[in-house]
Amino acid sequence: MVSQPLLSIEDLHVEFDRGEDTVYAVNGVSFSIAEGETLGIVGESGSGKSVTLMSAIGLIRENGRIRSGRAVFQGTDLLKLSERQLEDVRGREIGVVFQDPMTSLNPVMRIGDQIMEAMLAHHFCSHREAFERTLQLLHEMGIPEPKARFRNYPHEFSGGMRQRIMIAIALACEPQLLIADEPTTALDVTVQMQILALLQEQRRKRNMAVAIITHDFGVATNFCDRIIVLYAGQIMEVADTGTFIRESAHPYTVGLKHSIIEIGHRSKPLKPIPGMAPTVTEMPRSCSFAPRCPLATDRCRNELPQLREIGPGHWVACHRAEEVLADVI
Ligand SMILES: Nc1ncnc2c1ncn2[C@@H]1O[C@H](COP(=O)(O)OP(=O)(O)OP(=O)(O)O)[C@@H](O)[C@H]1O
Ligand code: SF4
Ligand SMILES: [Mg+2]
Repeated sequence: MVSQPLLSIEDLHVEFDRGEDTVYAVNGVSFSIAEGETLGIVGESGSGKSVTLMSAIGLIRENGRIRSGRAVFQGTDLLKLSERQLEDVRGREIGVVFQDPMTSLNPVMRIGDQIMEAMLAHHFCSHREAFERTLQLLHEMGIPEPKARFRNYPHEFSGGMRQRIMIAIALACEPQLLIADEPTTALDVTVQMQILALLQEQRRKRNMAVAIITHDFGVATNFCDRIIVLYAGQIMEVADTGTFIRESAHPYTVGLKHSIIEIGHRSKPLKPIPGMAPTVTEMPRSCSFAPRCPLATDRCRNELPQLREIGPGHWVACHRAEEVLADVI
């Protein structure tokens, strides 16, 4: 199923000014998303998931900058485009679902008009077609009585329904890539599952690629073909989902798994990873996970582990990956 890369992010470095400090949010991240692939970007809060993908599509806060890197989408480096050109790519070829629908939807505009506007702003179709397509999209998103609901405002919908409207806006111009940033975090478990099932169904139907950003390893393993684990703005591990389930090779990934698997197949107890993900204010020169890692040695505290391939398509940045695979922790 994996074919040509649709988006390739290459050696991306992103930093922010924060008072006297520089926050090194993304530190040399490289990966690609293939056509039709579902990729999970996983990590704790502050690990750099959103900044990586949002800066790649030109959404970066004023105090931030891309120090270096490329984000090649269908042969074009997005980081070289003007704001106008980027606006055209976003929404038309790359759809984005943001974490909090209440802050991304316009509270004083009818939801039908917001979906239509997504098409009209990109000259995707005529006004009449946009109206028909909006009704169809509302129907496909599982919103009952599309004609009546077209006229409602965002506050007249539940959280799950608002997220469905956000997905309709993101899909309005038939994008080839959908980026969904924590699309289910604010929702209860049953609604989460429904939204994920909807995304899955739409992905299949449209044969689009989906990048799903989540702190929930369980969501990624249930939903994605391949997973990237981020920590301190660096990739710790990349593999297909089956490999992650069978044999994670990074202590951080093992920790993420232990913190979700209730009855682990390694019959180890459920336990959260001690400590917190850091805010990186110095360029990493050693393993960023060392302060929390049960396997840390002097080498880990002095030498930055490089991402290396330990099996087909299985990459890990850990000096002791082989021991992790051999189940020493
Ligand atoms: N505008 C900003 N100014 C300063 N630091 C920032 C800014 N935006 C993000 N950061 C920092 O960059 C790092 C990565 O942030 P990012 O938002 O990508 O994390 P995340 O993995 O998406 O986390 P979450 O799960 O909380 O959304 C964090 O340390 C964050 O504090
Ligand atoms: S390099 Fe060392 S500290 Fe870092 S994750 Fe691997 S074992 Fe732990
Ligand atoms: Mg985020």
